[in-house]
Amino acid sequence: MAVNGEPKDRGHWSGPLPFIMASAGAAIGLGNIWKFPYITGMNGGGAFVLFYLLCIALVGLPLLISEMLMGRKAERDTVGSFLELGHQRAGGKAWAGFGWLAVITCGVLLSFYAVIAGWAMDYVVKSVTGAFWAVPAAEVPALFDALLANPWANVIYAGLFMLLTAGIVVGGVKGGLEKANNILIPTLFILLTGLMIYGLTQKGAGQALAFMFAPDFSKLTGAGMLEALGHAFFSLGLGMGVMIVYGSYLGKGTSLVKAAISIAFLDTLIALMAGVMIFSMVFTYGLEPGAGPGLIFQTLPVMFAGVPGGGILATLFFVLLTFAALTSSISLLECVVAYVVDEDHLSRGKAVAISGAAIFGLGIFSALSFNVLAGVKLLGERNIFDTLDFLVSNLALPLGGLGVAIFTGWVMLVPDVKDEFQDNALERFSRVFWRFCIRFVAPFGIIAVLLFSLGVIKF
Ligand code: TRP
Repeated sequence: MAVNGEPKDRGHWSGPLPFIMASAGAAIGLGNIWKFPYITGMNGGGAFVLFYLLCIALVGLPLLISEMLMGRKAERDTVGSFLELGHQRAGGKAWAGFGWLAVITCGVLLSFYAVIAGWAMDYVVKSVTGAFWAVPAAEVPALFDALLANPWANVIYAGLFMLLTAGIVVGGVKGGLEKANNILIPTLFILLTGLMIYGLTQKGAGQALAFMFAPDFSKLTGAGMLEALGHAFFSLGLGMGVMIVYGSYLGKGTSLVKAAISIAFLDTLIALMAGVMIFSMVFTYGLEPGAGPGLIFQTLPVMFAGVPGGGILATLFFVLLTFAALTSSISLLECVVAYVVDEDHLSRGKAVAISGAAIFGLGIFSALSFNVLAGVKLLGERNIFDTLDFLVSNLALPLGGLGVAIFTGWVMLVPDVKDEFQDNALERFSRVFWRFCIRFVAPFGIIAVLLFSLGVIKF
């Protein structure tokens, strides 16, 4: 029960399945289709993938359960959940600081996430209008540089993407989030399955599978291990309270353990499928697997431009990418909107308009950081976009995750925690496993990531 009354615009999922779809939607995003393949490529493949799976199981999954458990117990936004569950405990109201951090981080992440999603939308247009075919293959990668150099395109596409996001979130939990995910997630799955089957019929498929699944541990570095852990967080959508908010709309009957396992499974499956598809094409066409962030915007389009039916493949691929981004961006906006609705008691419509506009306003700086504002260098010679990305992904996210781990593992009342697990042998076993990971494994792993980000540990 909320401390100061139930805000009128709070919603509820209509059942466990829509909750799982929406949470999987938050998890499945640019992280799976853009980032996972390129960091796997840069870290040498198999051993990195295996270590990533270990991070998902031992840190990601327990933390996912923690966030959902907090939200469902408190039935509030991130700030309210920490307040509600922590006020009679050591540290009292100070824990709400983590709730604040979550709201701010969601807003900041969304501001530049929309810029990347904007590139995906621009590439849908390029695929449909045939822009990749209009220039010689060697010049295809330069199209991406031209996009970055164009301030208008960056701002307008990011704005369009924010409008799409806001248009869904304004519809509320059932009418907006649930409906959108119920359409987007199955579509995304079908598109990806189709593209992966295409990839598997190509001659580079065997090499791709070996690259991804035959581990060569000599290629796994300490830095790669910490990158895998950091990415496990990002990919599952943890550390920003998004799953606290989604959990707060969930009814009491659903098993959190089963839901969390399904979500982590789907998220990982999609990342692996995207990897198999992309590397099949990379190896078939002799492209560079370790190309870095440009892998899907610069390397893949060269292939699309050169194969029969490439136009269709490219269109499907970038639509897939846009949909994946959209199911994540709505979770980020919802995290901010839930705070405004729950704590400031504004109507959902006003909350969406105000937070959406503020986030887009901030996003303009990221959109301009490759062109008009390219000369502005902040943290360690990074431009605005890279600075915000560093602050969010490398600092705020692990810090938020650490807060949740310590709070649910050491601070929250044990009976409150027990309430959120069901009363059967499997759930009792899961609770013991969860408790061990969340109290001991997760905090140490996360602290290592933080120290590495701050440059305290070096490899
Ligand atoms: N998980 C998403 C991705 O893989 C991004 C995302 C959405 C996210 N919500 C989040 C990341 C909350 C961290 C926290 O692209």
